[in-house]
Amino acid sequence: REGVKDAKVARKFKINTENLNQIGSENPSFLTKEAILVKMLPSFVTHLPDGRECGTFIALDLGGTNFRVLLIDINEEQIDMDSQIYRVPQECMTGTGEALFDHIAKCMSDFINRMGFADRKIACGFTFSFPCEQYAINSASLITWTKGFSATGVEGKDVVTLLTEAVARRGDITVDIVAVVNDTVGTLMSCAFEDHACQIGLIAGTGSNACYMEKQSNITKLDGLQDADGKMCINMEWGAFGDDGALDEWTTEYDRILDANSVHPTKQRFEKMMAGMYLGEIVRLILLDMCKEGIVFTDDALPILETPESFGTHMVSQIVDNQPRHFAAVQNILACADIGAIRRDCEIVYMVCDAVSRRASYMCAAGISAIAIKIHQNRPDEYLDITCGVDGSVYKKHPTFAKLLKVKTNELVGLGIYVNFRLSHDGSGKGAALVSAVSTR
Ligand code: BG6
Ligand code: GLC
Repeated sequence: REGVKDAKVARKFKINTENLNQIGSENPSFLTKEAILVKMLPSFVTHLPDGRECGTFIALDLGGTNFRVLLIDINEEQIDMDSQIYRVPQECMTGTGEALFDHIAKCMSDFINRMGFADRKIACGFTFSFPCEQYAINSASLITWTKGFSATGVEGKDVVTLLTEAVARRGDITVDIVAVVNDTVGTLMSCAFEDHACQIGLIAGTGSNACYMEKQSNITKLDGLQDADGKMCINMEWGAFGDDGALDEWTTEYDRILDANSVHPTKQRFEKMMAGMYLGEIVRLILLDMCKEGIVFTDDALPILETPESFGTHMVSQIVDNQPRHFAAVQNILACADIGAIRRDCEIVYMVCDAVSRRASYMCAAGISAIAIKIHQNRPDEYLDITCGVDGSVYKKHPTFAKLLKVKTNELVGLGIYVNFRLSHDGSGKGAALVSAVSTR
């Protein structure tokens, strides 16, 4: 019975190349005004950095694991930076928008004072990692919150205005918010500063999303404002892929339970299959089911497995980092969460973590390969050697995600395309500063 259940779980999470091609082929085709599944948001970033950017900027980086304020000095192809991480209390993430923006302004003020810039006006680039409708580089209206944020009174509003008002309420600093970018766009910009083949930006972290450089003539949403020869970075917001049911064929009952219990039910279905905020939860739900059926652990583990968030994504990473038969290490990781396990339990836990992780990287590969194929269609006769700049805790900390992503992506793109992956070392704040430098040039 145990063997049968194990095999069933593994099978549910197995997605073959044909499925992935199908998922990928649905992904890039939403560049029109009628876009509903994947938002494909114009970013108003039209150029990658060319080394001529310069200036001193404050950058804000909100929406990943850490909220960071940075001071960035760009000078002759060299970037110096300092930064500080600030906590965003849970009550700010889910309270009122005014409290959230007051908190951000307070952190900015603290940092600007520490850096000795309080008495001068400074330009600011804002990395705001949520779906926004942009009308200009310095104007972005939040469409909907995602991940763990739900602060009231922000959806439908321009976040640059909200921040400017919060700064004015304090009255102790003078900042000019000159650019607002998604974290994928910031990541692409900072990687492109070092690698000119970089045309795709990916975040595999708390959330999951990608952006890429598209010909403006293909972006019908720009409503006749296109520069026929120009490009623009598109924030895909691919996390929302599947919100219309397009992924139902590949989701399991565990995905459905996870979605129903999440902060934003029915939203971000693709993201919920692969982002760091959710991987541990999927594993917990599977183990809970197996424990109730008497397949893994004893009933003593039930209260722990019934507690949401008790199985963190960092535990999935630690477990997959071991050989399947190296059970003592897995046993220790489970013991730290107060779950007693014998060898057989450890083998099952390893198998579940591996299946969930593998599916996550393959889903991500389906998305990236679809973008590369889309870019290649612009010049189908040329070999495309392209770089994807990446950031995020899952990419950086999960032991197998990055490798599986690279191998599967290049398997899916087929001949004529090669996708390199390049880790962004300094976060997307640097990218926001580069965009600010271009917009103030
Ligand atoms: C950081 C970037 O390094 O990675 C952020 O600076 C981004 O802009 C984040 O949101 C994504 O990763 P995570 O794991 O923190 O969500
Ligand atoms: C969520 C956000 C998106 C962001 C991603 C990674 O999907 O909606 O804007 O890029 O998380 O942080």
